[in-house]
Amino acid sequence: MNLLAHSYLSSIKNYIPGKAAIDGRKAIKLSSNENALGASPKAIEAYKNHAAEIFRYADGSCLELREAIAEKNRIDADRIVCGAGSDEIIALLTSAFAFVDDEIIYSEHGFLMYPISAQRVGARPVKVAEKNLKADVDAIIAAITDKTKIIFIANPNNPTGSYLTSFELQQLIDHTPKNILIVLDYAYAEFVEKSDYPNAIELVDRYENVVMTRTFSKIYGLASLRIGWSYSSKYVAEILNKIRGPFNVGGPAQFAAIAALQDDEFFLRSKNHNKKWLEIFFAELLKQQKIKTHPSIANFILLDFGSIDECRKENQQLLAHNIIFREMGAYDLPHCLRMTIGTKEENLKILEILKEIR
Ligand SMILES: Cc1ncc(COP(=O)(O)O)c(C=O)c1O
Repeated sequence: MNLLAHSYLSSIKNYIPGKAAIDGRKAIKLSSNENALGASPKAIEAYKNHAAEIFRYADGSCLELREAIAEKNRIDADRIVCGAGSDEIIALLTSAFAFVDDEIIYSEHGFLMYPISAQRVGARPVKVAEKNLKADVDAIIAAITDKTKIIFIANPNNPTGSYLTSFELQQLIDHTPKNILIVLDYAYAEFVEKSDYPNAIELVDRYENVVMTRTFSKIYGLASLRIGWSYSSKYVAEILNKIRGPFNVGGPAQFAAIAALQDDEFFLRSKNHNKKWLEIFFAELLKQQKIKTHPSIANFILLDFGSIDECRKENQQLLAHNIIFREMGAYDLPHCLRMTIGTKEENLKILEILKEIR
């Protein structure tokens, strides 16, 4: 073989997505934090209505979609950049601001695409220990060096469900040199109902080195369409626009996202469904001797079985019942499984199984 890719790419551990089937059988898939209620019927209709136009290139600047996002969030459309999922935005930010041998900080059980994106450009992912499964601001500040270029904070974090408060995030921003980009990954922000949850838009407006990323894959239920976006300073937006693919979001996806933004009924139904079932699950899990849980403000719960053996055993039980949770070995939590909140029927079935484990 004469071809040789960059040597630093060989250390990348491939991202392992949540499984969708068991031995080829369709199963109850609660492994990827998708919306239990599916997608907005209005978004599906908009997607279908634009099917005949798939032979055309879409609007590469996503103008209408950016304007719809801007209106909804009362922000400047020129400072929004859309991407093929927030994964693409994360990758674009990394390639724009980090280079070989630079350092990119993320927290111990942070979203896996941060270290993968760092390694893609030859930068070193610096994993900072968490306290009680939550990002540790002091430890992150202590890990900053002259080589640090980006700090990724998922708020709330996947897979732990924990979050940094306004006070904690402000501490981090105040103690981070202004030449380091702080990326606030708000993939699950729409599910959150906490008065001390930081307003990322205000932080982006106040600090040029703060960027917020968002997605249509979670509460809006459009994971398969691959639509994410960032809100940043004009400078960062201009850079991202230079390096993104010219047609990185498909046309029907853009129209579906606009319709999803306008469907308040579906949005609220999704949010209330999640809230209700999070409460029911936490109340039930409190009674569990064998499973420890950690408070989650997103649409998933991390279940700690105490040991790898116990976790494997219970996972086998769940799989035997046709239920797929996410295995957490890749997140250094091999004794845990992460479950996404499902439909009413799915949740009731899981509650029955959890009672058997007790
Ligand atoms: C914290 C976090 N950020 C970003 C993403 C990527 O989402 P997408 O690329 O579908 O927008 C995910 C997906 O699970 C996530 O959990």
